[in-house]
Amino acid sequence: MFGVGGIVSDLTGGLRGPHLKGSVVLMRKNALDFNDFGATVMDGVTELLGRGVTCQLISSTHVDHNNGGRGKVGAEANLEQWLLPTNLPFITTGENKFAVTFDWSVDKLGVPGAIIVKNNHAAEFFLKTITLDNVPGRGTVVFVANSWVYPQAKYRYNRVFFANDAYLPHQMPAALKPYRDDELRNLRGDDQQGPYEDHDRVYRYDVYNDLGDTRDVLGGSKDLPYPRRCRTGRKPSATKPDHESRLLPLVGNVYVPRDELFGHLKQSDFLGYTLKALVDGIIPATRTYADLSPGEFDSFADILKLYEGGIKLPNIPALEEVRKRFPLQLVKDLIPMGGDFLLKLPKPQIIKADEKAWMTDEEFAREMLAGVNPMMIKRLTEFPPKSTLDPSKYGDHTSTITEAHIGKSLEGLTVEQTLAGNRLYIVDQHDNLMPFLVDINNLDGSFVYATRTLLFLRGDGTLAPVAIELSSPLIQGDLTTAKSTVYTPRHAGVEGWIWQLAKAYASVNDYGWHQLISHWLNTHAVMEPFVIATNRQLSVTHPVHKLLHPHYRDTMNINARARGLLINAGGVIEMTVFPRKHAMPMSSMVYKNWNFTEQALPDDLIKRGMAVEDPSSPHKVRLLIEDYPYAADGLAVWHAIEQWVTEYLTIYYPDDGVLQGDVELQAWWKEVREVGHGDLKDAAWWPKMQTVAELIKACATIIWTGSALHAAVNFGQYPYSGYHPNKPSASRRPMPAPGSEEYALLERDPEKAFILTITNQFQALVGISLMEILSKHSSDEVYLGQHDTPAWTSDAKAQEAFRRFGARLEGIEKQVVAMNGDPRLKNRTGPAKFPYMLLYPNTSDHTGQAEGLTARGIPNSISI
Ligand SMILES: [Fe+2]
Repeated sequence: MFGVGGIVSDLTGGLRGPHLKGSVVLMRKNALDFNDFGATVMDGVTELLGRGVTCQLISSTHVDHNNGGRGKVGAEANLEQWLLPTNLPFITTGENKFAVTFDWSVDKLGVPGAIIVKNNHAAEFFLKTITLDNVPGRGTVVFVANSWVYPQAKYRYNRVFFANDAYLPHQMPAALKPYRDDELRNLRGDDQQGPYEDHDRVYRYDVYNDLGDTRDVLGGSKDLPYPRRCRTGRKPSATKPDHESRLLPLVGNVYVPRDELFGHLKQSDFLGYTLKALVDGIIPATRTYADLSPGEFDSFADILKLYEGGIKLPNIPALEEVRKRFPLQLVKDLIPMGGDFLLKLPKPQIIKADEKAWMTDEEFAREMLAGVNPMMIKRLTEFPPKSTLDPSKYGDHTSTITEAHIGKSLEGLTVEQTLAGNRLYIVDQHDNLMPFLVDINNLDGSFVYATRTLLFLRGDGTLAPVAIELSSPLIQGDLTTAKSTVYTPRHAGVEGWIWQLAKAYASVNDYGWHQLISHWLNTHAVMEPFVIATNRQLSVTHPVHKLLHPHYRDTMNINARARGLLINAGGVIEMTVFPRKHAMPMSSMVYKNWNFTEQALPDDLIKRGMAVEDPSSPHKVRLLIEDYPYAADGLAVWHAIEQWVTEYLTIYYPDDGVLQGDVELQAWWKEVREVGHGDLKDAAWWPKMQTVAELIKACATIIWTGSALHAAVNFGQYPYSGYHPNKPSASRRPMPAPGSEEYALLERDPEKAFILTITNQFQALVGISLMEILSKHSSDEVYLGQHDTPAWTSDAKAQEAFRRFGARLEGIEKQVVAMNGDPRLKNRTGPAKFPYMLLYPNTSDHTGQAEGLTARGIPNSISI
């Protein structure tokens, strides 16, 4: 808990009557600027004293009948200098602590339950907490704010912060209920059209009509459904009224409600600057470099120069412009003043210990279980693999892989025996991509196959790829059928390189699906409606708000940045990932079949045939590939989350009746379903939210998605894909046919032929640079089982349950380390000697050790 002690000197001139004393912790705006950080933290502290900031307590028990039955409001109190030593460590750098003395008699006015804070200054500050000590009959009362407080004139209402007690709506003290309802109304802001300004706190919905006039609107239609995003209220586009106008490049930031831009050390701003520096400086310089030089890498050794000596990008005016415009020191470090810019990146983990291990079949297959997209693999239950494409449009897309192709690779078993023994698996991208390939392959310099990769589970628990089928669309009358070729493993000569290319085409599919679906759609995009609905419908005092809020930190901010620079028309994703301008419509098609209940890991594993229900197993499901690192660690984490959520929610919901009568909770869920994910509102799978069990599962799924699922697909991006031959983001030409010039090149200079087939140099340099930015843990990351506000709730039972959650996660850390050291579990480290740590919780790290490209740790939320 915050602020123990709290004996402050009374500077108010001596209050005669009873009073309450407390402390205020806030951060001034410039304390968060990187360039000022450390230097001016103490400057100007005194300006907040006196009338600069005033606080008024609100009674939780005594109502004012002349004011609509609202809790009585006390006299204004000013901030005073904190005269005692600040007693680090609970004050972190950049924070200021003030004393405050309230003229308040608990006998006459009762226990305070909320507080009004007015900022009479010109600049905003970030208010963290206000703590009252020695409140008679109560002890300590903590008001948790974690909010930017702007000058009072910016608001149409008083800023009110509640004590950290959790109340369901019907439990809210009557004196506080009107304040609770007002605050929710303010946050909904349904009467405010915008455009919203920096200080606004409005959470409203909009469709994806802000990606550029040349792109379809996603969301709000049957054909192109999408999760909702945060409304900014910007004007319609001048040329396309159903589109929102876009901000001029580099001017301002896309609106997010103010407290979604987190206060801590301005990491989120730094991310924004870095992305802008990439888009406005590094990308144009890279384009010039690729245009001036041969524009292609010559060999794998040539690519490795990127990590060893670096690549000198030419000094173009755009780089100078970025240097001038961005004041932040860290951006200046990124693009040093004057001269050429050296693009030099750290060596990705996949090639750190062994530069060629990625080429082995073992590593290729291991990445299906422990890579950056380990949620595609399925158990094969019928052979040959079937298609679910509509035969009336596509004809017969049954796989052309036969027993003759794979029979010799099955350790003496027949195909039937391998199916019966759960030994045959598939990464099937055929149906996912086939519907888009005609359009994608019509793009300049694009040639992509739809792929099926068959994998055999060997006796030693590792997987071996046994066949890869590459298919292209074949128009036959009204049907789009397939022209397919099957490749099988070869490890020498030109045939060996053909097999390498077959794996590369499969990896291209995997890269696109990973980035657009597993990562963007299934974590970033689907989460935003939950963030908006929670803020609009659940009071900060609602226990479910308290539970979920940490898992939303910075999510709206990174999504807004992504719409501005990454997934927009001509943005970095279109520039670097093979579907290019078809990328977002493709993710919309996939969203049609999104199912919230299948996002829970056990359900996902069962659906993919990777696990079966088993009440005797510790996590109630049993994996059919025991050494499946993502699933093994994921189930442990899922189970810990579910246990924590169960323990927490059952404190507040003793039975289903309480849940059914919770008006905020019911409004929240209705809005998630009917508005935030409104394009899918009629899906039969939506939980009805009538039982505590449904709420537990829903909250566990939201937490899982924002924390572990995102960590699994995000922080391995650079470590696995930062060397693009391992994970190419595009392919440019078909498999060389014997007798062709390309085939001759493959025989003569196979590395060059491989490089000319995958991602081009410009796309590779840009894509890798983006991966580097997006794969970094920040120094102020808050990991699962940690909380940035220790006093987040006054409920001792909830605090106890949270501590147990943290302890369980620390136990999982030990298990992960032990498993990674177990030589029998070959899929955990693999030929690349890169142990699987993406779902190592990192709960025990309170020092920011895992900062940077560590490929380790589960942050609470999607913040990058
Ligand atoms: Fe991400």
